[in-house]
Amino acid sequence: MTVTSQPGFTIVDFVPDDFDAVFHAWQESGLWMRPSDGREHVLLKLERDPDLFLVARDAAGAVIGSAMGGWDGRRAYVYHLGVVPAWQRRGVATALMDELEERFRARGAVKCKCQILGGNDVSTAFFAARGYELETPCMPYGKELVPGGAPRDDCPC
Ligand SMILES: CC(C)(COP(=O)(O)OP(=O)(O)OC[C@H]1O[C@@H](n2cnc3c(N)ncnc32)[C@H](O)[C@@H]1OP(=O)(O)O)[C@@H](O)C(=O)NCCC(=O)NCCS
Repeated sequence: MTVTSQPGFTIVDFVPDDFDAVFHAWQESGLWMRPSDGREHVLLKLERDPDLFLVARDAAGAVIGSAMGGWDGRRAYVYHLGVVPAWQRRGVATALMDELEERFRARGAVKCKCQILGGNDVSTAFFAARGYELETPCMPYGKELVPGGAPRDDCPC
């Protein structure tokens, strides 16, 4: 289903058949891929928040970006926001995040969080331009529940 139409691209809901193309777009956009990015885990995530995984497609239908949202009942999270290089700086991530934040609000979320890998200046600039602020003194802590599932240094973006 088309959610938003922008000049040259549309935002649609992710469906399982999109997995390969989205995975490829994640790789192309340079996102740090983790063991939990496989089909099985992505589909598990989709069961939980089926309406919070958005895909951007160009006029020919190719996947050019995506954003995966999470809502745990208290906070909203953004994971794997990525746009393929040829489409960067053309408002695709803005359109994805506009729609995602609207859906978060509709769920009752009052705050959205994301994790940015240290040194990712482009992502920092993008989120700062949207009003996101670095939240010190919080430090991310994590523990692997399954060996190899999410090794240390994980960045869940
Ligand atoms: C970060 C990313 C998703 C931004 O996507 P995008 O579609 O190019 O972003 P937009 O065109 O919507 O940019 C909106 C605003 O963000 C800021 N911005 C985006 N890219 C920027 C860059 N390279 N340098 C400085 N500011 C930038 C600007 O303020 C921009 O507005 P402007 O173009 O009017 O100046 C994209 O660069 C990307 O996929 N990067 C690689 C993957 C990644 O790091 N994802 C984030 C993981 S936390």
